[in-house]
Amino acid sequence: MDLFSKIEETAFYVKQKVKTKPRVGIVLGSGLGGLVEIVEGKATIAYSSIPNFPVSTVKGHSGELVFGKIGDTDVVLMAGRFHYYEGYNMQEVTFPIRVMKALGVEILILSNAAGGTNPEFAVGDLMIIKDHINLVPEHPLRGPNDERLGPRFPDMSEAYDHALIAIAEKIAAENNITVRTGVYVGLQGPSFETPAEYRFLNRIGGDAVGMSTVPEVIVARHGGMRVFAISVICNIGFREIAATTTHEEVLDAAAVAAPKMATLVTGLAKQQR
Ligand code: HPA
Repeated sequence: MDLFSKIEETAFYVKQKVKTKPRVGIVLGSGLGGLVEIVEGKATIAYSSIPNFPVSTVKGHSGELVFGKIGDTDVVLMAGRFHYYEGYNMQEVTFPIRVMKALGVEILILSNAAGGTNPEFAVGDLMIIKDHINLVPEHPLRGPNDERLGPRFPDMSEAYDHALIAIAEKIAAENNITVRTGVYVGLQGPSFETPAEYRFLNRIGGDAVGMSTVPEVIVARHGGMRVFAISVICNIGFREIAATTTHEEVLDAAAVAAPKMATLVTGLAKQQR
């Protein structure tokens, strides 16, 4: 079965299970699973029951699609995402984004846990992604292009929607939440970076680094969705004396920042109905 048919089949299955028509899609990053609580009137579908969906394995991810409302906005939320380092290919990693699009999602909000490569950042900071650098070795659009899904050569000049960024900055200011903006570098992981690599990423213009988001953003833009993405800075990888990085520390830092993240994501979703 080709990709387009798989997407149609999966969307058909999901539409039979839930009657809502989500306009906003949300992807939760590592340690941010608690944000599922911002959705009201939840109806969930486990990934394991969805045809053509890969199954999530990473600690801190539960693996379900959550449908419901944020304010008056119908949303679908991915609790748990698929990472390239888990062994999935790029088509699998980005498949749920295609399905969201097929369900009618026009605005995609992504969150992630990231390492800071900007020495001015601190653990717990939120960083709105204004642009990215793609250093993931496999491209999600490699192979024959299906024009029904998007153009062969999608434009990436405004991958991160300026209007959504402005709204998020306003919500942050109104709620006394300090947000940074910066460039996210996507790498494959799963090892964290060496001090020399963090330094390199800083020098090429990166403010944060992580193992997700970039492929999903590319596919969302291919499909014409508007994208907003935000990182929690969970560790700082650019210091005179390098500190070690652990997955636990990343999850802890993300959990601490989760309430601020919830305020921003809720505010953004509410304005998009
Ligand atoms: N590097 C890559 N991915 C990450 C990091 C990091 O330092 N922290 C959280 N996710």
